[in-house]
Amino acid sequence: MDQLRETYLARISAAADAAALEEVRLAALGKKGEISLMMRELGKMSPEERQTTGKALNQLRDELDSALRARKTTMEDAALDERLKAEWLDVTLPARHRARGTIHPVSQVTEECTAIFADMGFRVAEGPQIETDWYNFDALNIAPEHPARQEHDTFFMHRAPGDNRPPHVLRTHTSPVQIRAMQEQGAPIRVIAPGRVYRMDMDQTHAPMFHQIEGMAIDRDISMANLKWVLEEFFTAFFGTKVKTRFRASHFPFTEPSAEVDIQCSWVNGQLRVGEGDGWLEVLGSGMMHPKVLRAGGIDPDQWQGFAFGMGIDRMAMLKYGIPDLRAFFESDLRWLRHYGFGALEAPSVHAG
Ligand code: DAH
Repeated sequence: MDQLRETYLARISAAADAAALEEVRLAALGKKGEISLMMRELGKMSPEERQTTGKALNQLRDELDSALRARKTTMEDAALDERLKAEWLDVTLPARHRARGTIHPVSQVTEECTAIFADMGFRVAEGPQIETDWYNFDALNIAPEHPARQEHDTFFMHRAPGDNRPPHVLRTHTSPVQIRAMQEQGAPIRVIAPGRVYRMDMDQTHAPMFHQIEGMAIDRDISMANLKWVLEEFFTAFFGTKVKTRFRASHFPFTEPSAEVDIQCSWVNGQLRVGEGDGWLEVLGSGMMHPKVLRAGGIDPDQWQGFAFGMGIDRMAMLKYGIPDLRAFFESDLRWLRHYGFGALEAPSVHAG
């Protein structure tokens, strides 16, 4: 038995890999292994012989078994060491270059506008781009026969015969968000609503999808003077230079009185300069909210009054960053995006008034 022990222990430590080790295990302890066969012989022995031999065989079996396990662990540790040596990684190496996108001028300018109005206490409100014709028109005092419905070149959603849901349109302006915000929040309220709008129109300064920002403030004694101050404060912060505004009497169904607002500018060698000179550039529509509009939003016009305005975000981006053609905004030309886009970490440029 001592000889068996020595033979197998020697073979175990000589085994070069897991397969060789398994071979040794089978030869000694497998079903037909040498030790297993000897254990089967125990039955033929006398009781005394069986006791001593049985004990010795059990011991031998346990001893070989733990030697096999120990050898296996040693082999696995060695293999792991090999892998660790082969598969090292230098985490201090600089990362591989990856193409980086830019922030679209529309996103950038939306952020800038939002930051400026937020400073004046305006919160951002939102509404759906597919809007019922009630929110887009009726609630804003644009009656079905009103020419504004045609002027807006509206995209109507298809309705199958028998579909009796209210007619839906792609919203033609952000003004319906006025109604939704009033219904949701009541008065007093101060919100802006930036977002996409749609009209059937396409040339150098028009695209079928573009962006507007709506503004609205309702309180007990809001006046046109508040509107003018807010807008001048906004343009001054947005363009980073003192900007005067000029109000021209106009007409919108949802405001009374209504005004179109121009900003002060000049053209020097064909270049537009905002905030200087004696030229004027029309940039937005505004006015005091019509009582019917307040009522449509669930607000009592005998208790409250407010101003509203709407302007084109894309237009603002063109003016501020000298971008000549609106259509390029939505063509996704990478060269254009790299040229006019902004870095992801570039803070919106706004200036204290
Ligand atoms: N909704 C108008 C348009 O798209 C712009 C506008 C004019 C909005 C006057 C207003 C406003 O809130 O008071 O042409």
